[in-house]
Amino acid sequence: MSTDSRRKDEHLRYAEITNSAQQRQPNDFAGVRLLHQALPEQSLAEVDLSTSLIDGLQIDYPFYIEAMTGGSKKGGVINGQLASLAAKHHLAMATGSMSIIFKDPATKPTFAVVRQQNPDGVIIANLSANASVDQAAAAIDLVKANALEIHLNSAQEVVMPEGAQDYHWLTNIKKLAARFPVIVKEVGFGMTKETIQLLADAGVAGINVSGRGGTNFAAIESLRGKRIGASGDWSPLFDWGQSTVESLLEARSTNHQQATVIASGGVQSPADVVKAGTLGASAVGVAGFFLHHLQTNPDGLDQLITSWRQNIAAMMLLTGCQRFADLANTPFVLNPQLESYVRQRHLTR
Ligand SMILES: Cc1cc2nc3c(=O)[nH]c(=O)nc-3n(C[C@H](O)[C@H](O)[C@H](O)COP(=O)(O)O)c2cc1C
Repeated sequence: MSTDSRRKDEHLRYAEITNSAQQRQPNDFAGVRLLHQALPEQSLAEVDLSTSLIDGLQIDYPFYIEAMTGGSKKGGVINGQLASLAAKHHLAMATGSMSIIFKDPATKPTFAVVRQQNPDGVIIANLSANASVDQAAAAIDLVKANALEIHLNSAQEVVMPEGAQDYHWLTNIKKLAARFPVIVKEVGFGMTKETIQLLADAGVAGINVSGRGGTNFAAIESLRGKRIGASGDWSPLFDWGQSTVESLLEARSTNHQQATVIASGGVQSPADVVKAGTLGASAVGVAGFFLHHLQTNPDGLDQLITSWRQNIAAMMLLTGCQRFADLANTPFVLNPQLESYVRQRHLTR
């Protein structure tokens, strides 16, 4: 097995270990209160769960399977399982980073399986921020992707024993965004309004803030480093970054023009999905929590997705919303800690 394939397997294993309730950082969703509308004045049948992931790309449900894996035998199996659930439930799904196919073309089937299992679904290809236009076109072609995700993972790379040293990405992102429908995403450390504005101005189609509160790549890479005997204590970075809630509050103070804002990072419940929509997210990606369920009980994940769909529809009805996008215009209440964050960052609510 190549070093890169082994890293993919370690990500799967260490994500599960570090995502335990004891080790997870707060996702801040508990600090957001939704407001019950005792007079909904609509029927459940009128609630429409479809939403626009990015301009021109409609998805049937507001939550989707976020980028995780591929690039190893185990990653291919998991991609196949996730893709068949995505097909069954009409959920969009992102692949894990496909950069590995350019170093090791033998890994291509571990990504291609995502399209084979889900011929008609919405699939998002994922690459690093220094991918070339040709590489992006090849990755999109391999899975017949409907959009391209470009990940920003500086906090992961600095901890990763074999991580990158150079983080000049914006010029390349502009180039890719001019050619493809690009969603730029973090991997669990969140984004500030300054970053979101730069990305919107770069012409991307979607900005996935992917904040702190779930999968923690500082902790994952630190564990990997220990295994291979790398020196250094990375625990000071274990609570690094903005939570998903803080990042969505940041996004509200930007002029993100045509770009949609997408949430991910620490999403663990249908209420988190609805709260993210209330804070302005057009769709919500879920990675570690679904992976945990898949690895412990695949049938349980199937049932969980069904109940999330029901719960989200009920919560939309009870907040008086027919469409997911309507949530962004409903009032909400923040706890004192988040209210203080809003004040100190000079954010508009
Ligand atoms: C095992 C694993 C592998 C991941 N690999 C990728 C990746 O290749 N590309 C990427 O953009 N994000 C990757 N992520 C990050 C997720 O897409 C997401 O941004 C992050 O995990 C936060 O969401 P969560 O808390 O729901 O897991 C990975 C996450 C997990 C759990």
